[in-house]
This record gives sequence, C-alpha cells and structure tokens, in this order.
Amino acid sequence: MSIARFDFSVKRFVLAPLAGWSDPPFRAVAKYFGADLTISEMISADALVRNPLKTKKLYAKSPLETPFAVQLVGSSVVVVGEAARMLSDEEGIDVIDLNAGCPAPKIARGGGGSALLKNPATLGEMIGAIKKNGGQKLTSAKIRLGFEKNDGVALAKVCEEAGADFITVHARTKTGGFAAPPNYEAIGEIKSRLKIPVIANGDIDGYEKAQSVFQTTNADGAMIGRAALAAPWIFAQLKTNLPIADRAIKREVVLAHFDHTIQLYGARGAIIFRKRLHKYCKGFEQAAQFRSAINRESDPSVTRSLIDEFFSAQRN
Ligand SMILES: Cc1cc2nc3c(=O)[nH]c(=O)nc-3n(C[C@H](O)[C@H](O)[C@H](O)COP(=O)(O)O)c2cc1C
Repeated sequence: MSIARFDFSVKRFVLAPLAGWSDPPFRAVAKYFGADLTISEMISADALVRNPLKTKKLYAKSPLETPFAVQLVGSSVVVVGEAARMLSDEEGIDVIDLNAGCPAPKIARGGGGSALLKNPATLGEMIGAIKKNGGQKLTSAKIRLGFEKNDGVALAKVCEEAGADFITVHARTKTGGFAAPPNYEAIGEIKSRLKIPVIANGDIDGYEKAQSVFQTTNADGAMIGRAALAAPWIFAQLKTNLPIADRAIKREVVLAHFDHTIQLYGARGAIIFRKRLHKYCKGFEQAAQFRSAINRESDPSVTRSLIDEFFSAQRN
C-alpha cells in the first residue's frame, strides 16, 4: 500500500475540511493551485461503520489529491476505532484526522467534535484508537484552543501523547465560534511545547496574514477554510505572493470547476454549483443580476453560458 508522506521541512498549506463545500471538484481546484494537503468533509464514524458502501461516496477523492486525509467525527472510542480500521485497508488515504472542534449542536451534544475538548481522556483514547487501528496511515487531530477557555497546551499534549503525527489548531475556543478574535499567541505557546508539527488555522486569508501568523506562532503550516471558498486559487498566492486576480484565469477556473461538478453530479450539479457562483461573483460588476439569473436556471448548458458571459465581461 502506498502512503504519501509529506514532511514539514517547508511550511505546508492545507485546505480545511468544510462540510457541505469541500467536495472532490472543489478540492481538485485547491490542489491544482498548490494545496499541500486536502481533507474530506467530516465523516461520521457511526455512518461509516453502519453503512460503509453509502458512506464511502462521501470521501471519494479526485485523482489529483495526494496526499489526502479523511476526517472522522464520532463520540464513541470503539466506533471511531472501528472506522479507522476500515479506512486502514483503503488505497489513496494517507492521513486519518479526528474532528475535535466542530461546534454544531447535533455533533457536540452527542459527545463528538468540540465536546471532546471537555473530555481530554476520551480525546486521547480516540486518537490512540485511530493510531492503533489505522495501519500505516498518519494520525492527526483538528482541535480548538478549548471549550470555553484556553486549554490549548494541555489538549495538544494529550494529542501528542496519544500518538498524533501532527495537529491543526483553530485559534479559537468552541465558545469563540467563527467570529471571536483569533488567539495566535496561544498557538505559538502550543508549538513551543510540542515535538510534533502544528498547523495554524483561523482567518488566514492571504500571503501577508499567513506570514504574520507564522511569525507569531512558528507553526509548521497554515490551514485555510473560508478564504478558499471564494478563491481556491489562494494557495498559489500563499506560496508565491503573486496576485491571482486575472479575470481570464478566474473564468477558466470557474468553468473547469463547473464542468467537474456536472461530471460528478450530473445535471443537478447546476443547482449544487449556485452557492459556489454566489461566492465567485462577489465584488464583480453586475453580480446581483448574475446571481438572480443563475438562481432561476437549472439547465447545465445555459448555466455554463451565463458563467462564460459573466466572467468574460469583467474588467480586471
Ligand atoms: C461551512 C463550514 C464547514 C466546516 N466544516 C468543517 C468540518 O467538516 N470539519 C472541521 O474540522 N471543520 C469544519 N469547519 C471549520 C473549518 O475547517 C475551519 O477550522 C474554520 O472555518 C476556521 O478557518 P478559516 O477562518 O480559515 O475559515 C467548517 C467551517 C465552515 C465555515
């Protein structure tokens, strides 16, 4: 079985798992522009164990995606361990990541996601179970700084001691949601106390921000979520500091992304793609008219022409 190892001798840029958004066509665009690691949306360990054939479809990957991580979410150590054992046999998965940060009530109320931040013993056992059952796959965890207060160092140490090969830290507590000011200093503290690589996450939206986060945290990489939704080409900019603003490139990328989406989902891809176009057209001239036109359209070939026309008409 081939496992892609990626070292941290240079800073690594990772596309965040984004439930409802990070499907194979989107991840392929990020990968094409230089994302070093892409991750599936969170996959319920329970669903995988109960219904493997149906659940496998949720972490299908595009051929470009190596290395590739599958993220598990769950509340039972036994079930998460069993899901990791199932993934251990699968080609094309290099990392098994544990979601220990999702604040959504339907996940956290059951004891998974961010609830693990309140239960460090379970967090450690879950990572240990992934490590033990995951075969040659790398084990990682994505945590927040804590549930209500910053317990980042203690939680990160639990991850390291349980066998995580690297961790990602979102620079907020669960209570901080997605809008509290990110505490990058806390990630710096974690980094200084751990031996394993640490990836910083939270509000990183361009080259300068990434460099300033690296300065503050000394992190080994950066994970990008929301900023990549409107601009999956951000990875090229993060690595080179060159603006990728050319409208001809955007037109081409959006059309290629659309074509992959239709290939994967068939005609309903035109409807699935609407929310992407809402992100892609932000800040462009006539964006409101474009949005209402594509919202009314469900024929893929007409939608494609509308995209082509809209982006061709833009000035840089
Ligand atoms: C729509 C959406 C879906 C998300 N889905 C997941 C997920 O499946 N797993 C996870 O660990 N985090 C998930 N997150 C959190 C992001 O991975 C990331 O940690 C967070 O958005 C902060 O990074 P950013 O400021 O770069 O967006 C999600 C965030 C958003 C906005």
